[in-house]
Amino acid sequence: MTADHLAPVYAQWALDVVGAEGVHLLTRDNRRVLDLYGGHAVAALGYSHPRWLAALEQQARALLFQSNAVPLEVRARAATRLTRFAGLGLDTVFFVNSGAEANENALKLALKITGRRKVVAIEGGFHGRTAAAGAVTWGAAQKWYGFPQAPFDVEFLPRGDLEAIARVVGSDTAAVIAEPVQGVAGAVDLGQPFLAALRARCSEAGAFLVLDEVQSGMGRTGFPFAANMHGIAPDMLTTAKALGAGFPCAALLMADHVAAHLKTDDLGTTFGGGPMACALIEAVVDILESEGLLANVRRLAQQIRETCVTGPVVATQGAGFLTGLRTRRPAKDVQRELLERDILTGTSGDPHVVRILAPYVIDESHVAQLRDALAALPA
Ligand SMILES: Cc1ncc(COP(=O)(O)O)c(C=O)c1O
Repeated sequence: MTADHLAPVYAQWALDVVGAEGVHLLTRDNRRVLDLYGGHAVAALGYSHPRWLAALEQQARALLFQSNAVPLEVRARAATRLTRFAGLGLDTVFFVNSGAEANENALKLALKITGRRKVVAIEGGFHGRTAAAGAVTWGAAQKWYGFPQAPFDVEFLPRGDLEAIARVVGSDTAAVIAEPVQGVAGAVDLGQPFLAALRARCSEAGAFLVLDEVQSGMGRTGFPFAANMHGIAPDMLTTAKALGAGFPCAALLMADHVAAHLKTDDLGTTFGGGPMACALIEAVVDILESEGLLANVRRLAQQIRETCVTGPVVATQGAGFLTGLRTRRPAKDVQRELLERDILTGTSGDPHVVRILAPYVIDESHVAQLRDALAALPA
């Protein structure tokens, strides 16, 4: 395979994928690789889910695209299903295309509404590659940011440091942005007490709490969102990845007191909220609810926690199918060795964490396969 014309910006795995079936990737050399990574947490329903495919085909035949200048029933239905699924009192949706774009819009709104110029983010957090999202991403400035300056003031808060919250979040703060379970950092649950303290301080200081659930959302933790798991009501929430389960789309959900500030032309996008994306968002919510997939995630995540601390794995962390396997040896070696045994997992920002972002449709046999493969690896 030649890739001479692609930007050389991605490290790539030794995996020549030509197709997929259920929860397996099919390779050119006829391997069936169990996919416990799902393309960075996207393939929540695995591959070729019949109802996902049917929704795609039906919408493509009915109406491929119309912009937001045209009211569409499918868009209204997707917004209703999504806000009901979330159940967090975030009753207004702005559909966009990617996680970074959702965060970009959330921060823009917070800065504009409050008239303040500072955003607080959490050490270890990842929010995307655009100007605002990159500015609140931990380590981006040193590694890849590229813009001459951040578009607003940024201060990072150490994870779990309850005492620092009151010092860092104040009357100058427009928003606090946090992944309730950090993904790229290695499946790190910020925990209920820390998130509750952030919520309380934001309310006190008149700042918006923005939860970035691009990776942790849409059932991945075994709850609609990690916000539900921890009983935290943010002012805004962003989600993407599993939202379309393979169809690219994202959403910014907001509470009434945020949406009340919006007027025509404040936000916009061509592709966001397109009928294809909306049909698949509606289908994904429908499938998650009707097939009991959140319960499956909770049950099997528990099995992973109970059985997969074996071989090089010394502990687990995270929540649901945003699970980190803490390894005694470098995670990249364990990840490679699992791939040699036909199991795809991911690494993370933590060199000793292998990340599991499994499709919600796996069963006990797949957990057993992971456990057996880990047990066979050198400790
Ligand atoms: C928590 C979180 N936020 C934002 C993003 C950026 O999303 P996208 O790549 O769709 O822009 C990611 C991507 O990994 C993410 O994990």
